[in-house]
Amino acid sequence: MPDDDAIITRRHYNYIAEHTRGDDEFLIELKQAAEAAEIPKIWISPAQASLMQVILKLHGAKQVIEVGTLAGYSAISMARALPDDGRVRTIELESRHADFAEQWIAKSNVANKVKVLRGAGVDVLKTIDSGSADACFLDADKANYPRYLDECLRILPVGGLIMADNAFAFGRLFDQVEDDSGVAAVRRFNDYMAAEKRVHAVMVGIGDGCWVGVKEA
Ligand code: DHB
Ligand code: MG
Repeated sequence: MPDDDAIITRRHYNYIAEHTRGDDEFLIELKQAAEAAEIPKIWISPAQASLMQVILKLHGAKQVIEVGTLAGYSAISMARALPDDGRVRTIELESRHADFAEQWIAKSNVANKVKVLRGAGVDVLKTIDSGSADACFLDADKANYPRYLDECLRILPVGGLIMADNAFAFGRLFDQVEDDSGVAAVRRFNDYMAAEKRVHAVMVGIGDGCWVGVKEA
């Protein structure tokens, strides 16, 4: 088989989707409203939501931090995998997105389990107490992922869970791109994670590639 033969193809992606729990009516409506509000359609896939929910359940996660709320789809999905006293704190820079997400979180079945924190990822992460979360999900600004990771490694205990979106760089991981592009930023982060001795992590080929890791030291 040639080296560049695709192993995870569009066909696999669709097949996985067909064999994985999809969105309920509420999440379908949320996405329709987000589209109507011209929020970019860059939320995680339903299969990735299931991957993250299963991992959060296995981990027994209670306190989750998300960097990059967008429309609130992933925050609501993660909150649904937590016990009643669990909580997702989700960080959003764009006030238009934070407003939209807050409205839909309030209407959801996890309204009391999700709080939107407004501001830039690194700035808000710096205000979060060490030891106050057991899982983090990185999304948002790709160039800042290494800084998000450093802050999350401060916040999480040993054994804490780290997940990060877009390890496959929006499907353009191997494209020729400028150094200042999001794709190049993702590649730098992937190299950073691979070299990071404090985390045992693996890229999972679900959605646009999802890093899943555990803080080791
Ligand atoms: C983009 C960002 C994301 O977090 C994502 O999941 C997909 C696309 C983007 O910036 O284009
Ligand atoms: Mg993303």
